[in-house]
Parts: sequence; structure tokens; C-alpha cells
Amino acid sequence: MYGWSAAEALGRESHQLLQTEFPQPLPDIQRTLLERGAWHGELVQSTKDHLRIVVSSRWALKPFLAGKPAGFLEIARDITERKRIEDQLRETARMESVGLLAGGIAHDFNNLLVGVIGNASLVLTAMEVHNPQRALLQEAVRSAERMAYLTRQLLAYAGKGRFVVGPLNLSETIREQAPLLRAAVPKNVQIDFVLVPVPPIEADVAQIQQILANLVINAAEAIAEAPGAISIGTGVAELDESDRARFGDFPISPGRFVTLTVRDNGCGMDAATQARIFDPFFTTKFLGRGLGLSAVMGIVRGHRGALRVISAPGRGATFELFFPS
Ligand SMILES: Nc1ncnc2c1ncn2[C@@H]1O[C@H](COP(=O)(O)OP(=O)(O)OP(=O)(O)O)[C@@H](O)[C@H]1O
Ligand SMILES: [Mg+2]
Repeated sequence: MYGWSAAEALGRESHQLLQTEFPQPLPDIQRTLLERGAWHGELVQSTKDHLRIVVSSRWALKPFLAGKPAGFLEIARDITERKRIEDQLRETARMESVGLLAGGIAHDFNNLLVGVIGNASLVLTAMEVHNPQRALLQEAVRSAERMAYLTRQLLAYAGKGRFVVGPLNLSETIREQAPLLRAAVPKNVQIDFVLVPVPPIEADVAQIQQILANLVINAAEAIAEAPGAISIGTGVAELDESDRARFGDFPISPGRFVTLTVRDNGCGMDAATQARIFDPFFTTKFLGRGLGLSAVMGIVRGHRGALRVISAPGRGATFELFFPS
């Protein structure tokens, strides 16, 4: 389990050799051992290859000889993998509860905002064109619209975005949205489209637009000031059983998929960032909300699709999405 041979370990103090981290001070453990004759708990130890592992450790006092303990026996079982899975499950449950909570509030919020924006807009239309208060009201509408936008991102993450599913041609949808996408990015960013004929997918057009907007805005933000390019492409792919294992986090069925690829030559990201980008509220940006990719994830899942990211610092980023067709 630890990788040392008996000869190497002989004569060495085991906890020094294994660099044991105890859950409580060693004298306390020893006291329990003496009082109760046994102790068990979790320890963190090192293997010969310097891997830190978590072990479940049971200590038992050997029978007393002439009133003194003869020594004690320690049995350790490697539970590193079990701990890792437990942590992962806890994390998943935490994310799900965040989603439920956010989704619940966002829903009410959205309905209330419809009232705010609707009424304020009605007042605006009724107002004299030269009324000096107009600008104030317009600002209020803009803020409410921004709130509605954030709520939509939350709803999408929670898998509660309004779903109006119908057959959709991904290449067509992108082509129609192209002018909007071009307008959403600064002048130094060029967008190229590589759209091929694709079979229809079952999708909600508003949510596909939301995905595109989120990915393209992220790509433009990763490019920042320097001249850069974003490429948006579609394609068709067959996913089989081995791909299914590759996309372990997504419950997809093998078959034909329409792909959406958004690639940029911006700053890229390291592995630590990549591990967290889909967490709600994770952001590396000063004014970011950390909701864009959470929404993308929620929508892709809602469409029984899958996605993956390829990126490295300074090497840009590629987001590849798969929708069952
Ligand atoms: N194309 C990209 N290139 C490099 N990093 C990216 C890219 N897309 C996303 N990221 C990283 O992932 C993080 C999370 O993205 P996400 O869209 O969820 O939130 P955000 O852009 O920070 O805020 P919001 O979209 O809510 O305004 C970003 O802060 C950024 O660090
Ligand atoms: Mg974003």
C-alpha cells in the first residue's frame, strides 16, 4: 500500500516514515488507546512515491505483560478513492441545491420583473418626448432588463429556462444571429462562421441563442484589447460507447450529434481554472457574475447534450458542444 519494502521500513518509526497527519494530538490518541484499549480514525499519510493518501486506521493495544502494555497493533486501510468520491458527491449535491434555490427565486423574480419593465415602458410611451424625467425612467428600464438577463442565466443553470422545444437547424439559427453576435463584440474581434448543412435537433431557439451569446462574449473577453478572432462552426458527429465514457458527466445515448464549436485565440486558461468554470458564480473577471457558463451547462444538459473544453494558458480556448439529432 505504501510502497516500501520490509527491509526499508525496518527500524524506522512508522509515523515518521509515513509522515502521518493525525486528526488530534498524538498524546490524546495514546491516552484513548491506554484507557479503552483501542482507537480508530482517519489519517493522512505518504507513500514512497510521495503521494498523500487517506487511510482508515485501527489501533489495538496488545495484552498487558506484567501490568505494562506490550505494544500496539495498527491496521490501516487505504480509503483515498472512497473519500474522493464522497467529496465529489457532496460537491454535486451542493451544486444541485444552489441550482434549486436559485431556480426557485429566479422564477418569481422573472415574473415580477415583467411587471416592472412592462409598466415602466407603458409610462415611457405615454410621456412627453421632451420630459426631462424620461432619461431616469429609461435608466430604470435598462437596470430591470439587466436583472431579467441575470435571472434568465440563473434559470438556465437551474434547468428551468422556459423550454419551447421544436426542430431547429443549428446552422440556420447561427446564421440568423450572426449580425447580433458581431454587434456584441468589440471592433478588434473578428468572427468567422464555418456553417455546414446539419440535420435538425430538438431545441429551444432562445436557449441556443443564449448559449451562443454567452460563449461569444466570453471569447471576446478572453481576447480583450489585442486583435483576435473567434470561429463559430457546426458539424455532425457520431458518438459511440467509448465517447460515452469520455463524457462521463453527461448522460448521453450513443448516436448522431450536431456539434457547435466556438474557438478563440484569447488568453486561454490553466487546468485549475478549467476545473471550476461551470460552477455558478465562479469568475476571474472584475465585473463578472460567473453565470455565463453555468447557464450554458444547464442548457446543454437540458437538451441531453454534452460539452468539452480544450484550452491552455496563452493558447486560446475551444468549447465543443454536442446536441443529439
Ligand atoms: N473563452 C474563454 N477563454 C478563457 N477563459 C474563459 C473563457 N470562457 C470562460 N472563461 C473563464 O471561465 C470563467 C467563467 O465564465 P462565465 O461565463 O461562467 O462567467 P464570467 O464570464 O466570468 O461572468 P458572466 O458570464 O456571468 O458575466 C471566466 O471568468 C473565465 O475565467
Ligand atoms: Mg461569461
